[in-house]
Amino acid sequence: MSPDRRGPLVVAHRGASAALPEHTLAAYELALEEGADGLECDVRLTRDGHLVCVHDRTVDRTSTGSGVVSEMTLGNLSELAFGGNGEPVLTLSELITLVLDHTSRPTKLFIETKHPVRFGGLVESKVLAELARFGLAAPPSATHSRAVVMSFSAAAVWRIRRSAPLLPTVLLGESSRYLGGGAATTVGATAVGPSIKSLREHPEIVDRAAAAGRATYCWTVDDRSDVELCRDLGVGWIATNHPGRTREWLGR
Ligand code: G3P
Ligand code: CA
Repeated sequence: MSPDRRGPLVVAHRGASAALPEHTLAAYELALEEGADGLECDVRLTRDGHLVCVHDRTVDRTSTGSGVVSEMTLGNLSELAFGGNGEPVLTLSELITLVLDHTSRPTKLFIETKHPVRFGGLVESKVLAELARFGLAAPPSATHSRAVVMSFSAAAVWRIRRSAPLLPTVLLGESSRYLGGGAATTVGATAVGPSIKSLREHPEIVDRAAAAGRATYCWTVDDRSDVELCRDLGVGWIATNHPGRTREWLGR
């Protein structure tokens, strides 16, 4: 996850989600077509222990149904339509398969664990088990890893590091997290993950992270001036809802 001379690598946030409904297979396929270097997804655990790609605590905003993801079974979720064309809920397993089947580029999958507190580490252990099932939990190096696990929870990142020390991680958060006590270093995260707002206010985050041996992953970077700021600061990865346009801005 080291900075690239060509500028930041481009991560499709929830897929090419400005063009197609977030977290749908179609949105991820479009992101791959547009040349995204990475795909970002949020994962939640269903009541019966399946990992699904849903951002919110409930399915109300993104599906035809309503209810709390963690109180529903995969069967319940499968009855709903996500996105305008009736797409089914996307499982983490299906998304990993898409990434691995896309053999023309070594696209990375950035998996963000949501609600880690409620399940006391179960989400992380399930994510690791899923990655292990696909042979992705013990990469030869962080650079060559096809998966990155991210969280706003330092405890979640720490659990991943403890169980899968070779897997790269991002500790997400606002600037106070990186400028003060160095939480990313404490939990051993491979990268810091500030918002673009934090980076505009505190661009020194990138150099401080680099001095501590950490890369920077910035979200959610949709404006051209912000893409250029990230490029000039040496940010390693940017998450955007517009992967194609962003790559063009970077001259790819
Ligand atoms: O990539 C990190 C970013 O996705 C964090 O915010 O709310 O979009 O999950 P959120
Ligand atoms: Ca996310």
